[in-house]
Amino acid sequence: MTARERRDRVHVRAPGKINVFLKVGALQEDGYHDLATAYQAVSLCEEVRVSHADDFSVSVSGPVPLDQVPLDGSNIAIRAARLLAARTGYRAGARIEIEKRVPVAGGMGGGSADAAATLVACDALWGTELPREELHELARRLGADVPFALTGGTAIGTGRGDELSPALAQGQFNWVLALADFGLSTPDVYRALDEHRERYAGDIFPADPVPQVEADVLQALRAGDPHMLAEALHNDLQAAALQLAPGLVEVLELGERRGALAGIVSGSGPTVAFLVADADAALELQVALSAAQLEVVRASGPVHGARVVHD
Ligand code: C5P
Repeated sequence: MTARERRDRVHVRAPGKINVFLKVGALQEDGYHDLATAYQAVSLCEEVRVSHADDFSVSVSGPVPLDQVPLDGSNIAIRAARLLAARTGYRAGARIEIEKRVPVAGGMGGGSADAAATLVACDALWGTELPREELHELARRLGADVPFALTGGTAIGTGRGDELSPALAQGQFNWVLALADFGLSTPDVYRALDEHRERYAGDIFPADPVPQVEADVLQALRAGDPHMLAEALHNDLQAAALQLAPGLVEVLELGERRGALAGIVSGSGPTVAFLVADADAALELQVALSAAQLEVVRASGPVHGARVVHD
């Protein structure tokens, strides 16, 4: 028996993400859209602890509203653990404890981070030692953003968002995140975009036949320059998210008036991510937005993907 197999409990940290660029292409027959995105993993993280058990169970705690998180077998962390058990022939279960910091249904990939963390944690707890590429294959089956939560850093995603290639990036970017007290369903936001495109026959937000990440985004990431990145931020889902949650328009305007270089809806929303020049500017914006009764946290990126934490 190796040292890994003897562990009683494994703690894994996995990051939330911001899509600093997201172009949505056409709806495919499998119900997914082709897309081109630039992901950045940020320091708002999920802490997942797994321990040995006969069955599979999950519990959640943390500072964000938790009432939308299912605690039965539909929870993505339980699905991840079961998938790994089925793949490796592992016969017992796992007790999964999730400490949530990434907002639920917030557009920052919190559920995907839970899934990625659970794969890594169970693999270590059970001593199954699956090769990284196979963990990735399981991750893809759990959701489009799960592979990125495994790799972290800064990456380009194509296909459903799960075909990843690393993006050259230097330095740290500072973000201020305005958290909403409600969630948005990702399928609903994609549907709103499709309906909008149908209604206007593709004139206003035409679906790119082959969506691509634009060169100015890659250049800004390579340069580590927040001013350049602020100019290049783009999210095709933003208009749809604003249609479903019009109050976010005011949040975006407020942040930009109070010193953000730019603001963007994160993924399918409703979290709004403001890019700022440096850590001091982040603190100033956090204070200003808190004074306006918004729930705000600071984060920086890139950070690494799902990894074991040695407590
Ligand atoms: O893969 P995941 O479960 O995160 O996706 C949630 C939903 O988001 C999908 O069922 C689909 O409606 C939408 N989606 C999409 N195109 C993508 C990724 C997600 O339409 N590339």
